[in-house]
Amino acid sequence: CGSMGGGMALLFAEQGVHVSLQDPSADRMNALLDSAKKDGLQDKLSKHDDYKSLCKSLESYSGSGAPRVFVWSLPHGSIGDTVLTGLMPLLRKGDCIVDCGNEHWENSERRMGMCYVKGIRYVGCGVSGGYQAARRGPSMCPGGDDDSLFFVLPLLEQVAATAPDNSPCVARIGTGGAGHYCKMIHNGIEHGMMSAISEAWALMARGMDMSLDDVGDEFQRWNDNGELHNTFLVSIGADICRKKNDKGNKVLPEVEDKVVQDYTGEEGTGVWSNDEAIEQHVPAPTLTAAHYLRIASGDLAQRRAIYDTLGKAHPPQKLSIQDQKAFLEDLRQAVYAASLAAYAQGLIIIDRANKSKNFNINYPNLLQIWRAGCIIRSDYINRELLLPIYKQGPFVNPLTDPTFASELKKMYPALKRVVMKAMEADQVVPSLSASLEYLKYMTSTELPTSFYEAELDYFGAHNYDRKGEDPEGKPETGRQHFEWKPA
Ligand code: 6PG
Repeated sequence: CGSMGGGMALLFAEQGVHVSLQDPSADRMNALLDSAKKDGLQDKLSKHDDYKSLCKSLESYSGSGAPRVFVWSLPHGSIGDTVLTGLMPLLRKGDCIVDCGNEHWENSERRMGMCYVKGIRYVGCGVSGGYQAARRGPSMCPGGDDDSLFFVLPLLEQVAATAPDNSPCVARIGTGGAGHYCKMIHNGIEHGMMSAISEAWALMARGMDMSLDDVGDEFQRWNDNGELHNTFLVSIGADICRKKNDKGNKVLPEVEDKVVQDYTGEEGTGVWSNDEAIEQHVPAPTLTAAHYLRIASGDLAQRRAIYDTLGKAHPPQKLSIQDQKAFLEDLRQAVYAASLAAYAQGLIIIDRANKSKNFNINYPNLLQIWRAGCIIRSDYINRELLLPIYKQGPFVNPLTDPTFASELKKMYPALKRVVMKAMEADQVVPSLSASLEYLKYMTSTELPTSFYEAELDYFGAHNYDRKGEDPEGKPETGRQHFEWKPA
């Protein structure tokens, strides 16, 4: 009955589904029933103090012996195991669990295995859009075996967000933990985009002394037209800049610059998505820079101490800009480029995992469910750019797709100008600058790493590929060692 589970419970009820609630907190259950009453949904919900009564009530709705659906939205980790262990003796063949939390995909797969041997269905379903979407229609990212997915999809379709073509933002994503895996990477992309947008906000508000209303108007302009059209994180950016509290004061100035890790204090999707990038050998600097910024921001006491020893020497300065209008347009393009970089990195991680973990990911479905409801939704990026690419068939690396690449090519000069201006003024732009470096090194055929490789060979007899490759990309002569300093 928390913000996500509670919202979804009301949403299911609104669709005519009988919902039996169970939560360790009686207060939370009561509060949810109160909201249900306000929405005229009280007849569709009942509360239960234990699993026995919960299961019995589900039975009374589904009919004797019919499969029951258990949807939960829990903090990741051991809580799901505790709940599953408690429910297990009461579950029977055909029942279906839909785990809608931000669970780690390996936990989902482990629990799937525990359920599978008993004939119990288990779906790991990433849910995106925050608590308001949970109430109005989230984007849902389910993974599991086909039997479980096809069993539960009609129910999920009733509550999922609806794309402009009226199709639901829920579909079969892949097998095993694919749903939670893709949701984890969605969150990595989300944080990369959020960092780039926040960096843009700081450049405008602090580097250019723009008023919050003006920054809000600028975000609005980005959101209204062009490549960032209807980009959720940009649109809420406009709102955040304008929002005032009851006393008529702007709210944003009172927000501390600390991005606090999730409330359980445990690792979450932000950490896991970066772990996965490394695990899958995929460079994902936009995501990683965002994450490093986040964890550095979280330790304000440390930053204050380092400010005294080091930071005072090079405080951020105002940007030196001749043409403000032109720079703001550059900034819009830079944020767009960083968003594309984040998407590309995320999709490449998913593809590697898909191959090594046999997720059998359905890319058109994945792009479809990102069209509405979720946090990374963006009309142009999702619908107009990516979906047509992935609708065509097998996965392609977005950076090698001519349409995607040409967008980045167009944005590169603006991204570079923004990063240069920000660097000149010691402004903090980790995701924007990491995105620029990413585009440079991913596209280069003359990296500084010849020297890196030579150093490794010098001290470690690491061997190196000799320049000149056959058409398959294999070195002509194989790897070789040079005795740089004969004994
Ligand atoms: C969503 C969000 C959501 C999550 C945030 C913050 O898609 O609705 O991703 O699931 O709350 O990403 O997550 P952490 O604070 O755990 O990183």
